[in-house]
Amino acid sequence: MEKLVIRGGQPLQGSLPISASKNAALPLMAASLLAPGVTRLGNIPRLRDITTFSHVLRIAGAEVTRSGDGLEVDASRIFFPEAPYELVKKMRASFYMLGALLGRCGKARVSLPGGCAWGPRPVNLHIDGIKALGASIDLDEGYVVASSPGGRLDGGTFKLDPSSVGATVNILLAASTARGGSRIENAAIEPDVVVCCEMLQAMGARLGGVGTRTIEVEGVPLLRPAAFSNCPDRIELGTFMIAAAIAGIPGETVTLTRAHPGHLGEDFMEAFRQTGADCDIGANTVSVTAPEELTSVSITTGIYPGFPTDLQAQWSVLLACCPGTGSVTDTVYGDRFNHIPELARMGVRAQVSGNRVVVKGGTQLKGARVMSTDLRASVSLVLAGMVASGTTHVGRIYHLDRGYEKLEDKLSACGIDIRRERYDEFATPQRPDP
Ligand code: EPZ
Repeated sequence: MEKLVIRGGQPLQGSLPISASKNAALPLMAASLLAPGVTRLGNIPRLRDITTFSHVLRIAGAEVTRSGDGLEVDASRIFFPEAPYELVKKMRASFYMLGALLGRCGKARVSLPGGCAWGPRPVNLHIDGIKALGASIDLDEGYVVASSPGGRLDGGTFKLDPSSVGATVNILLAASTARGGSRIENAAIEPDVVVCCEMLQAMGARLGGVGTRTIEVEGVPLLRPAAFSNCPDRIELGTFMIAAAIAGIPGETVTLTRAHPGHLGEDFMEAFRQTGADCDIGANTVSVTAPEELTSVSITTGIYPGFPTDLQAQWSVLLACCPGTGSVTDTVYGDRFNHIPELARMGVRAQVSGNRVVVKGGTQLKGARVMSTDLRASVSLVLAGMVASGTTHVGRIYHLDRGYEKLEDKLSACGIDIRRERYDEFATPQRPDP
């Protein structure tokens, strides 16, 4: 098992590069199965989730190899249209295989993803959307078994409620090669979905309304391989902006490079500015200057372009660094607060009630041994360790490695005292001799 050990109190200085987006890369990898031949995906991050999903594609018959800063996916032969539980349970986005395999092979057997660290993650919209395209669906021993009568889906119309990133992607993948036209209403408009649409168009898909809540798809028999480059990670960008605000030297600028500032949405940018942190936006940079004292700003998450739920754990740490009291309300995942008890061990004063946590700032955080429970909870503990006095040990960082590329290298290069260590989680602590 590995942990990150952080000696707090060192300021964050200099510039940090933003890696490629995890949540945009996964739909691109799934889409590559729709075309026989070699698809070249540029700017794919080196993360556990990418490794896991590469295995899922290989099981279906694709050859997936690292090439430069990305991947080459040879989907010439997709002969096993299945996604096994052992991999889908590790990474929910493997469920994209339902739409990809139906779109390519006319049939699919994909494990239901099950829950995650903070509760149920339903897939009813994915299944109902695929049914609306004409697929027949059975549930068998925890697997979704889908097929297209006649080998090709008809196409159809489906309205998402609520708007779902994953369901939008899955329906898009299946509809792209359907016999007729399809329409997705109340579609997700996150950048991850727009980038997926742009790649599908590069592969020959006929889409209208890209980036809007109504996407029209005119099915084509087969797509062609493409070369396509992924976008930067907006959640890593937001995470590092928060890091700069709480750990930067007041008045000294920290610059985030290789970024796509527009992908964060106005709600986050507005809340960030209200904290008093100065934020200068460039074409592909964000320069953050911490104020002498941060202002507590309460936020409520929402679907894009609302405040991203994937940044609410990190925001709670920012609130802990401000005088006064603020709150974080998550309207997307009402129970995504497993990080709060761990932060409390570092002195964060927070009270969870329903889908809201109220954080009372103004106290000096203290280093402690804490445990990651999920990807974004894990990075919130690292942020807290950076500003805490003393040393913080963040355990189970396999969660962190799912979504943050070379985090300790990036932070070390900017002055943070952080290192990765192996440890035995099951070692029995010994009491000192009397
Ligand atoms: C994507 O998950 C992201 N994952 C999540 O990021 C992110 O938190 C989430 O979108 C919301 O922005 C990837 O892109 C791989 P949803 P997804 O379907 O697609 C409800 C991270 O940390 N819903 O948009 O699974 C659902 O309960 C991860 O990087 C249904 O009711 O999210 C939620 O309330 C965590 N039925 C809302 O929709 C369904 O069939 C949005 O979920 C599907 C979703």
